[in-house]
Amino acid sequence: MDSLQFRAALGMFATGVTIVTVRGPDGSLVGLTANSFNSVSLEPPLVLWSLARRAGSLPVFSQGTHYAINILAADQKDLAQRFATRDIDRFAGVAWREGAGGAPVLDGTVACFECANRSQYEEGDHVIFVGEVERCSARPGAQPLIFHGGRYFTELPL
Ligand SMILES: Cc1cc2nc3c(=O)[nH]c(=O)nc-3n(C[C@H](O)[C@H](O)[C@H](O)COP(=O)(O)O)c2cc1C
Repeated sequence: MDSLQFRAALGMFATGVTIVTVRGPDGSLVGLTANSFNSVSLEPPLVLWSLARRAGSLPVFSQGTHYAINILAADQKDLAQRFATRDIDRFAGVAWREGAGGAPVLDGTVACFECANRSQYEEGDHVIFVGEVERCSARPGAQPLIFHGGRYFTELPL
């Protein structure tokens, strides 16, 4: 198995798209696009996501007490691309409010999980973050953004 084969097989698993956000120690706004989000536990309420060890935001996420996992809506594809682009002001013109521990909660998403930074596990070239959900919100019926095979979609009910 080579890495292209592995990536192609992983890409067949359709996911939602999130922007995970955190505040730097100086109050700066930090966030990146991530589709590695998943649920872990109902009691206590736990979720996970993973961050590349080479990501510029790793030091801030490692040390932050809280982060917010913003689940994007179908009309937020541009935000998904922007928060995966380096050397730009990702938050320019983005509406947000302060969530648990100061983590930015973005406007217009389909759901948000405000998490305490509970544990981290280094595995391979990523770090797995497990968050304890302190608050969450959802817009039932809203159209989510979906990522599959390197392309963006929205849902088509069967
Ligand atoms: C749809 C999509 C999903 C992504 N999922 C992840 C992910 O789960 N973990 C990750 O580390 N990077 C992921 N990325 C890549 C990061 O968003 C990208 O490398 C970003 O520039 C990292 O920001 P940073 O270097 O400021 O931390 C994803 C990108 C896209 C477009």
